[in-house]
Amino acid sequence: MTAATTAPDYVKNKKLAAWVAEVAQLTKPERIVWCDGSQAEYDRLCAEMVASGMLIKLNEQKRPGCFLARSDPDDVARMEDRTFVCSKNKEDAGPNNNWVAPEEMRATLTKISDGCMRGRTMYVIPFSMGPLGSHISHIGVELTDSPYVVVSMRVMTRIGRAVLDLLGSDGFFVPCLHSVGAPLAPGEKDVVWPSNKQYKFICHFPDEKLIWSFGSGYGGNALLGKKCFALRIASIMAREQGWLAEHMLILGIQPPGGKKHYIAAAFPSACGKTNLAMLIPPKELQGWKVTTIGEDIAWIKPGKDGRLYAINPEAGAFGVAPGTSELTNPNCLAALNKNTIFTNVAMTPDGDVWWEGLSQTPPMNLTDWQGKPWDPDGDKPAAHPNARFTVAASQIPCIDPQWEDPAGVPISAFLFGGRRTTTVPLVTEANDWTHGVYMAATMASETTAASVGKMGVVRRDPFAMLPFCGYHFGDYFGHWLKVGKSIAQAPKIFAVNWFRKDEHGKFIWPGFGDNMRVLKWIVERCEGKAQAAETPIGRMPRFEDIELKGISGFSKKAFDELTRIDKGLWQAEVKDHERLFGELSARMPAEMVAQRKQLEQAL
Ligand code: OXD
Ligand code: MN
Repeated sequence: MTAATTAPDYVKNKKLAAWVAEVAQLTKPERIVWCDGSQAEYDRLCAEMVASGMLIKLNEQKRPGCFLARSDPDDVARMEDRTFVCSKNKEDAGPNNNWVAPEEMRATLTKISDGCMRGRTMYVIPFSMGPLGSHISHIGVELTDSPYVVVSMRVMTRIGRAVLDLLGSDGFFVPCLHSVGAPLAPGEKDVVWPSNKQYKFICHFPDEKLIWSFGSGYGGNALLGKKCFALRIASIMAREQGWLAEHMLILGIQPPGGKKHYIAAAFPSACGKTNLAMLIPPKELQGWKVTTIGEDIAWIKPGKDGRLYAINPEAGAFGVAPGTSELTNPNCLAALNKNTIFTNVAMTPDGDVWWEGLSQTPPMNLTDWQGKPWDPDGDKPAAHPNARFTVAASQIPCIDPQWEDPAGVPISAFLFGGRRTTTVPLVTEANDWTHGVYMAATMASETTAASVGKMGVVRRDPFAMLPFCGYHFGDYFGHWLKVGKSIAQAPKIFAVNWFRKDEHGKFIWPGFGDNMRVLKWIVERCEGKAQAAETPIGRMPRFEDIELKGISGFSKKAFDELTRIDKGLWQAEVKDHERLFGELSARMPAEMVAQRKQLEQAL
């Protein structure tokens, strides 16, 4: 039996109704449910998943309203090698994306999607990225056969009837089609985490602004509002429409008795973005207040006053659990006390959660992320390194009062950072916008245990957008240059690196809350209050320009090491910039090439 495909009366958007019917005809779900976004619907779906085994209810006293999901061991992360941008012209996708011709990819997906939702429910999730009705927000509709995706989307975005009302009869929406690709034969018993072992595709069709994901139920592969829409497709829309869709956290910083500034910061995965977004200043800087607008993505539009205004398009955090602790991020930990969906963390015998780094000593008798008894003396982690929490932003204790302001918040500065154990100093201010775009275009990060491939390899990750920019990086740099020219009050741009190591392989900078010392200098630079020294790579603070009081054992020698520009390493660095630019040469703006030559000469 397959479902009747007529949309309910309240669905006024004919294009949406027709698309849902067309998808249902292809995928053949048993029933179609139009999600209203209510708490009752969320509770019902969670109860159904507890009954089916997809969710485990956690201890109601210790973690009220919390659940644990355990994914298939082959479905645990985003898959960059299975991610495609199917633009009409291959060149438009650029060397930074996997490309397949749109007709060919459509044919493949259509073939494997025939009947792919058999025996399952197809949920229709109208969602808004950003506050409903904000001029910076956009609407999407996700069709999915995963109830886990529905409840996660309710946390991560704003979903339901109110979005349909806003969409009206002819509003624009991004169609997002998702299937775990695991149809059920009549009477067949479902597995706990359905996915498709053979095929996984995460596809983007820029010309139709369509997203089509098949075979995975995990994170960014399945919660299509996040990386697929808010970054890949939105980056394309942003270029067409004159705004920016970026892989950036946004935080508010208020000096004692002073005016609040907002800073947007881009870091690749595994560089402590969530920690920076929720930072608690050290006691020497007690009067400084830090608040969070977002921790992963920023949508940024020029305002009439010549400044850039940013919103967090998401409504929740889908963050990496391992490493999160009372020491590294107390604000985040507090957010996870209730109403949180955990995925692939370990469980204690009394139904609480645990992951590596949460406490120094693991609790006794843990169940690992795959549901097996965990051996503390073995070599396997209890929680998967990419185990996640899904939590509403409103539960973050330091959430900014303006985080849902439809007007967005004005940005004073952009930060770009990666994980670099050598070469890159603690903080460098760009000489101007073009130089800042060059810094961001050439940023890089060393791979960690959590990322794919070899550890410690420097990977160029322009703007921290390598896996997320939906079009040719050369065009993307050009777009940034253009936006800079179009605004009267361009934010200052800074490069940061918290991860430099000394000759003994020890981190020189304490990081975490102490990063506030660098942020203070940045804010004071924006206000024209702090000094800086000119260097061949940009402007840098001198020892006396940064508040270092209270960092035990941090000497002038350590500061000098942290900010040292090693000419040999920098010459090699610029050669690697040249290599990157060579790969992108077909679309590389001349200004970027000129910046590289200038830097080479300055060195
Ligand atoms: C993320 C990522 O999950 O950047 O946010 O990988
Ligand atoms: Mn991210």
